[in-house]
Amino acid sequence: MRKPIIAGNWKMYKTLEEGEELVNLLKRQLYDVEDIDIVLCPPFTHLAYIADMLESSNILLGAQDMHWEEEGAYTGEISGPMLKCAGCKFVLIGHSERRQFFGETNESVNKKLASALNNGLTPIVCIGEDLKQREKGITFDLISQQLELGLKAIAPERLKEIIIAYEPVWAIGSGKVATSEQAQEVHRYIRDWLSKNYSSALAQETRIQYGGSVKPDNIAGLIAQEDIDGALVGGASLDADSFSAIVRESKKG
Ligand code: 13P
Repeated sequence: MRKPIIAGNWKMYKTLEEGEELVNLLKRQLYDVEDIDIVLCPPFTHLAYIADMLESSNILLGAQDMHWEEEGAYTGEISGPMLKCAGCKFVLIGHSERRQFFGETNESVNKKLASALNNGLTPIVCIGEDLKQREKGITFDLISQQLELGLKAIAPERLKEIIIAYEPVWAIGSGKVATSEQAQEVHRYIRDWLSKNYSSALAQETRIQYGGSVKPDNIAGLIAQEDIDGALVGGASLDADSFSAIVRESKKG
């Protein structure tokens, strides 16, 4: 049985003060949740501070991106060892906003993924098609290409340490959630792909999250789907009541 995982991607929102207030509320509202992994991904500048706040709580910390080198002359970048010592357990890799605005490619995703694993971070690898690609009917081709190039040369025994996040770009921040059936169809495709390219046992162990306009009123339908193991939440993770409600609705039946 795969443990559900709900992650909040704060993107470039919340000052440290605002983030502190949100974390305090979430700690109070979610302290008794045991069977769901809860992850917060605040901006880099907040990580170490929030790591201290989350110590001995049931909420885990993640970053929104990383560089693949351990260190070097890469002004403005943050490495895996830096995230690790700031208290991160997770890191988002290849978010569509990184792909769209900052030149992230499947090749850089692959290098970051290897570095995350080497540094003991759990990568959440984001994939998904945009509206044009969906309308052209090439969603599955695109997904399989993102998986093939993104996961290239990753040893099979590392697969279960990786989380895949399916985020259709057209559903992000748009209020247009994929229907549970649309999401399940792609999640099933991803699990079948993993099964074909690794093994069915490994595919069964790998967690696949859905992301894109997840809200308290649509999470139950999504999580009820066989191959949906959690959610990567943007906008609704910025509000304590919404995020807590999403976490509480995420128990697998
Ligand atoms: P929204 O939940 O705001 O659509 O964002 C989804 C997302 O991009 C999470 O990474």
